[in-house]
Amino acid sequence: MATATTQTPKREAFGSRNVFILSAIGSAVGLGNIWRFPYVAYEGGGGAFLIPYLCALLTAGIPLLFFDYAIGHRFRGSAPLAFRRMHRSAETLGWWQVLICVVIAAYYAVIIAWAAMYTWFSAQLTWGPGNEEDFFFAEFLQSADVAAVGVSTDFVPQVGLPLIAVWLVVIVIMALGVKRGIGRANMILMPLLTVMFAILVVQSLFLPGALDGLNAFFTPNWAALADPAVWASAYGHIFFSLSVAFGIMVTYASYLKRKTDLTGSGLVVAFANSGFEILAGIGVFAALGFMAQAQGTEVAGVASSGIGLAFIAFPTIVSQAAGGSIIGVLFFGALVFAGVTSLISVLEVIVGALQDKLGWNRVRTTLTVTIPVAVISMALFSTTTALSVLDTADAFVNSFGIMAVALVAVIMVSWLLRRLPALKDHLNGRSSFRMGRFWMLLVGVLAPLVLGYLFVSELIAKSSTPYGGYPDWFLSIFGWGMVISLVILAVLLSLLPWSGRSHAKDDPEYDEFLVAEQYEPDSETSAIPVPDAEQRGAGA
Ligand code: ALA
Repeated sequence: MATATTQTPKREAFGSRNVFILSAIGSAVGLGNIWRFPYVAYEGGGGAFLIPYLCALLTAGIPLLFFDYAIGHRFRGSAPLAFRRMHRSAETLGWWQVLICVVIAAYYAVIIAWAAMYTWFSAQLTWGPGNEEDFFFAEFLQSADVAAVGVSTDFVPQVGLPLIAVWLVVIVIMALGVKRGIGRANMILMPLLTVMFAILVVQSLFLPGALDGLNAFFTPNWAALADPAVWASAYGHIFFSLSVAFGIMVTYASYLKRKTDLTGSGLVVAFANSGFEILAGIGVFAALGFMAQAQGTEVAGVASSGIGLAFIAFPTIVSQAAGGSIIGVLFFGALVFAGVTSLISVLEVIVGALQDKLGWNRVRTTLTVTIPVAVISMALFSTTTALSVLDTADAFVNSFGIMAVALVAVIMVSWLLRRLPALKDHLNGRSSFRMGRFWMLLVGVLAPLVLGYLFVSELIAKSSTPYGGYPDWFLSIFGWGMVISLVILAVLLSLLPWSGRSHAKDDPEYDEFLVAEQYEPDSETSAIPVPDAEQRGAGA
C-alpha cells in the first residue's frame, strides 16, 4: 500500500448522497430543459417529438447515465483520470469530454446572461408590447448577419456586462469547491427553482388558449415519426439534457462515498429532469397557445425562430397576459437558476480534470481554468454575431461532440476494453435497482447502433446542406473546425505527462477503495504495484 505524500490535496467529496442527488438534478435541469427542449420539440413537430424523446430517454439516456456513474464511481476520477484508470488508451476520451465542456460553458454562460437581463426587462416590459421579436434580435442582441459582416468584434454592452457578472458568480462558486461551492449552491438554488417553476406552470395553464397549446404539444404526429431528423434531435437532446456523455456525471460520481446507491440515485435524477423538461414544454406550449389565440392563428405558426423561442414567446405573454410581469420574472429567473447550477457542473468537468492532472489546489486550478474560458466566452458571445456562433457551436458540439464521444466511448468500453460486465457488477454491488444483461445490451449494442446511425446521418445532412444557411467559411471555423480541433487537442492533452503530485500518481484513498472492494489494481498509475497484464486478466 502506498503512503500519501503530504503534498497531494485530498480528493473532494459531496457532503451526502442527497447533496449529490440535488447537484446531479441541478446539473441535468438546465437551459436544456427550459430553453432548448421547447424549441427542439417545436422544431421536431411539437407533439411528434414526445415519442422519440421518451424512447431516447429509456433506451439511451438512463442506461448511459448509469454507465457514466459506474465509470466515475468505480475509477474515482474526473473524466480523463477515470478513463485512464480504466485503460491508458482511453484517457483521450476524457479530454475530449473536457474540451466539449469548454465549448458548452462558453455559450451556456451567455444564455444565462440573456435570461438575467430578461428577468429585469420583464418587470419593466422593456421591449414594448408587440415588439418582442424585433427587440430580441435587433435591439437587445443587435444581431448582425455573418454573411454580410463576417465575425464581428463589436461589443454589445447589454449582453457583455451581465456576462461578466455571470462569470464572476460561477468562478466564486467553483473556487469554493465541491462541498462548499457546488453542493451549497445547489442546496439553495434547486428548491427555489422548483417553487418558481411550479407557480409558473400553474399560472400559464390558466392563460386563455393554453389548452390549444397543450393539444399541439401532446398530440402525436405519426407522420413525423418517420423523419430520422426528429429522432436524431431527440437522441441528441437527451444527452445534453441529462448531462450524459460529456463528463459531468463521471466527475460528480467520483465525489461519492464508496457505498452509495448509484442506480437508485440515477433514476431520481433522470425522472426529475424529464419532469422539469415536460413541465417546461407544458409551460411554453401553453404560452404558445395563448399567443396563437391572441393573434388568431394556429399554434404551429406563432413563433418563427427556434433558438429565440423562449426569448420571444415568453415576452409576448408577459406583455399580453394579466400578471405578465410576474410570469416573466419567474420564467427568466428560473432560467438563470437552472442555468447556473448546470454551468457549474460543466465547469467542474474542466476544473476537476486539471486538478487531477496537475495536483494543484482548488483556487489555483479554478482561476487558471475558468478565466480563459470566460475570456473565450466574452470574445465570441458578447458581440453582434454571437447568435450565429452560438447556434452553430450548439448544433455541431451536440452532433459531433457529445454524440460522437458517446459513440466512441460505448464501443471502446463495451467491445475493445470489455468492461461492461465489471461496470454492471460495480453498479449492482451497491445499488437498489439492479442492472442485468438488458442494460449491457442497451449500452453495448443498441446505443452504438443508434448513435452510429445518427452520427452518419448527421454527417451527411450537415455536409450536404450548409447548416443554418451560414457561409462555408463560417461553418468551417465554428462548426467543422471546432469539432475537429477538439479531437486533436484531446489527443495532445492525453500525451502530456501527469504531474507527480496528481491523484493519478498518488491516491491512497483510491488504493484503499480497491482493497476494500477487492478489486484488482487496474491502473498503471495506481500506487499499488501492478501485477502482470496476464494476472490482471479481465478483472476490474
Ligand atoms: N444538462 C444541462 C442542461 O440541460 C447541461 O442544460
